[in-house]
Amino acid sequence: MAGIDYTTLIPNNVSLHENRRLQRALEDWQPKFLEWWQDMGPNGYQAKDVYLRTAISVDAQGWAHFGYVRMPEYRWGIFLAEPEQGRLVNFGDHKGQPAWQEVPGEYRGTLRRLIVTQGDTEPASVEQQRHLGRTCPSLYDLRNLFQVNVEEGRHLWAMVYLLDAHFGRDGREESEALLQRRSGDADKPRILGAFNEKTPDWLSFFMFCFFTDRDGKYQLASLAESGFDPLSQTCRFMLTEEAHHMFVGEAGIMRIVQRACELMREHKTDDLRKHGGIDLRTMQRYLNFHCSVSLDLFGSEISTNAANFYTAGLKGRFEETKKQDDHLLKEATYSVAELDGDRIAMREEPALVSLNERLRDDYVADCARGVARWNEVIKKHGIDFELRLPHRAFHRAIGSFADARVSPDGRVISQAEWDAKHREWLPTEEDKAYIQSLMQPVTEPGKFANWISPPARGINGQPVEFEYVRLA
Ligand SMILES: [Fe+2]
Ligand SMILES: [Fe+2]
Repeated sequence: MAGIDYTTLIPNNVSLHENRRLQRALEDWQPKFLEWWQDMGPNGYQAKDVYLRTAISVDAQGWAHFGYVRMPEYRWGIFLAEPEQGRLVNFGDHKGQPAWQEVPGEYRGTLRRLIVTQGDTEPASVEQQRHLGRTCPSLYDLRNLFQVNVEEGRHLWAMVYLLDAHFGRDGREESEALLQRRSGDADKPRILGAFNEKTPDWLSFFMFCFFTDRDGKYQLASLAESGFDPLSQTCRFMLTEEAHHMFVGEAGIMRIVQRACELMREHKTDDLRKHGGIDLRTMQRYLNFHCSVSLDLFGSEISTNAANFYTAGLKGRFEETKKQDDHLLKEATYSVAELDGDRIAMREEPALVSLNERLRDDYVADCARGVARWNEVIKKHGIDFELRLPHRAFHRAIGSFADARVSPDGRVISQAEWDAKHREWLPTEEDKAYIQSLMQPVTEPGKFANWISPPARGINGQPVEFEYVRLA
């Protein structure tokens, strides 16, 4: 595969110049994207130099170049992972056939919907985060926010490339629509619920990166298994970028936890509000919220859509090819948590319709590993407190638990108990107002807001006090 060509208007490693029709479609879309970026991308700082990484190759080692860039001049482009020679469709009814280089006619509509749904989340998160720069806790964090934002912009490019390259006029219309929907807009909202929520403060931002970007990882990983090879190659490269977003989330929360523990020990209290910290109980409520809305993104526990995507070879399981089974799943079963009167019970369901739940299981296990790392910090300080993932049935809006009231520890409860206790479980108006009161910008190199610890190290070997964004 060709290296990334940066001499052209649209950097790419897909020999774009050989396909004039596609090149023209993308060159036509590019100014509309930039207009969207100016209107809906980061509010402020657009004229500042930001220390960003840009992809220079798509192999695992050393793909990134770091340097100062103004965000609107970031070289968004089209990068696909190396093709796998002789790749096959690895699951479903077409298992064993050569992977498709063109969209199979019978799956056109379904595949387009999958790509649009994924694509819609990318600009949505940039819109959700657009005001955060104004209240950054440090230049280091400001730079990380902008890195995430430009890469989500590139993920949009990745999906638009697939739409324009493989779906003709329909694809071009979808590409336009991706720039027209708006997160949280009553008339033209983004497609998925969590992407219409606000990200009003940095605690929410770090939780979003940890929980919601991780949903992205699992969706991309299952699309990377697709029998439609261009989608697979696109998603494989996106996953390498996504890893950094989850690092930003996990490390951000870890640093807030670290600071909370320091303040607790210093002042011998767990009420940190008079000391300008974020107490662990408040963090638990934010965690409960962001985890539950992200769990919804996986869809209903029992889903014929999920079964159809799989049988058609369009969307696989997480690490499909590492699994030792028939990759057809026609006879297999899977145990799924379901509401059974006033309790939650496990029931064996056909594996094909349970694929959303299986992916959610992989996701929950991954989240739990991160939470365990946060708890190690608390434990090291000798503090008796554990952050916990809420039960998967807690505060759900989609699937079989949507109509139930369930506590974070997984008890089915009455509406009356919910009304009495939900303020202990989800962020309250007071929590939000307090967190908002902490959101005062800190922009001196090497300085950090009082509620968060500095990171252990800087970006790309630079010191923590490096001028990650040049404000002068
Ligand atoms: Fe993304
Ligand atoms: Fe992301």
